[in-house]
Amino acid sequence: MLRTPGAVRDAERWTAHNYHPLPVVVASAEGSWVTDVDGRRYLDCLAGYSALNFGHRHPTLIQAAHEQLDKLTLTSRAFVHDQFADFCRELAALCGKDLVLPMNTGAEAVETGIKVARKWGYQVKGVAPGQANIVVAEGNFHGRTTTIVSFSTDEDARADFGPYTPGFTVVPYGDLAALEAAIDENTVAVLLEPIQGEQGVVLPPEGYLPGVRRVCTERNVLFVADEIQSGLGRTGRTFACDHEGVVPDMYLLGKALGGGIVPVSAVAANADVLGVLKPGQHGSTFGGNPLACAVATEVVRLLATGEFQRRSAELGERLDAGLRALVGKGLVAVRVRGLWAGLDIDPALMSGRQACERLMERGVLAKDTHGSTIRLAPPLVITEAEIDHAVAQLAAVLAG
Ligand SMILES: Cc1ncc(COP(=O)(O)O)c(C=O)c1O
Repeated sequence: MLRTPGAVRDAERWTAHNYHPLPVVVASAEGSWVTDVDGRRYLDCLAGYSALNFGHRHPTLIQAAHEQLDKLTLTSRAFVHDQFADFCRELAALCGKDLVLPMNTGAEAVETGIKVARKWGYQVKGVAPGQANIVVAEGNFHGRTTTIVSFSTDEDARADFGPYTPGFTVVPYGDLAALEAAIDENTVAVLLEPIQGEQGVVLPPEGYLPGVRRVCTERNVLFVADEIQSGLGRTGRTFACDHEGVVPDMYLLGKALGGGIVPVSAVAANADVLGVLKPGQHGSTFGGNPLACAVATEVVRLLATGEFQRRSAELGERLDAGLRALVGKGLVAVRVRGLWAGLDIDPALMSGRQACERLMERGVLAKDTHGSTIRLAPPLVITEAEIDHAVAQLAAVLAG
């Protein structure tokens, strides 16, 4: 008897229904593949929303975790531990920044970025008390805290969670003139995803990010890039901002930083920005813990080789070519950067959810986002043959 239906039922029975997972019950995984409780194998083309950029159970990362588990797992930041400095120094170097502030989840990194930007605004820029404003983009996704959903434009994410945190101005994504017009003397930061992942891998028009950089510099506003999903090799470069040679004032990082093993996020910025925080003003019990630092340092070292960025760029071209061939054959549009793709399925054919269910039946895991859009973000260790396999399964699903 199959174990999947009962396991899906039990999971539904004992949890809040804040997700609508595909009915697959994963029991083990390695590299780009997962195996369910009934022994069926699936190619993981979501990779934990990019948290598994190095694949499941990357041997170097697993070894680092095992070794650290045998030594020290938690101190809190009340004490210094021997894994902390290496992690912060090496991540700062990867980002080209002076300092790093480690947290746990992506949303915490975003909250940290908001707090730092506001404090910088009051203490460095001289914004009047209580007046700091941050410009954000329509269609954003930065996490789920009450402050972050306050400036979401997705009603599912936002409705009935008020009262909302003030101090945010929403402008259309990709519209530089609107962004510039929204900046005033109280604006402390522009907070953007260089590519909007949850929105369906939406790329801004060429020149937009350099334009944002220029405007932020001219108007003495911090450019905060949320690279939590787009960063760390996903797009074929270390950061999505790198494609246009843009260096933000603050990087917000998460997901892949924890190697798919532990939640690790971080803010990276220069000392004139992150230096505004003093003891007692921000923190987290688990942020920068020894286990997290041990794993994340190895993540940074993997990225420092450049191998994963290269793989993502090269294999991304193959993915792009495969998907483009399906435009007009069930797909109406594709957007690809590195190993990250947003696919718009002809809504007359099926919904994104239906497409993902049919892909699952064919042994490929992906996730729908809005309506008929699905997102592919396979581990960067995926092979050419596996990409071809995923594209072939998609073609079969679209052909009905
Ligand atoms: C761009 C971006 N920022 C922030 C987050 C929130 O991260 P977390 O779910 O770890 O809080 C996400 C998660 O999908 C994201 O894609």
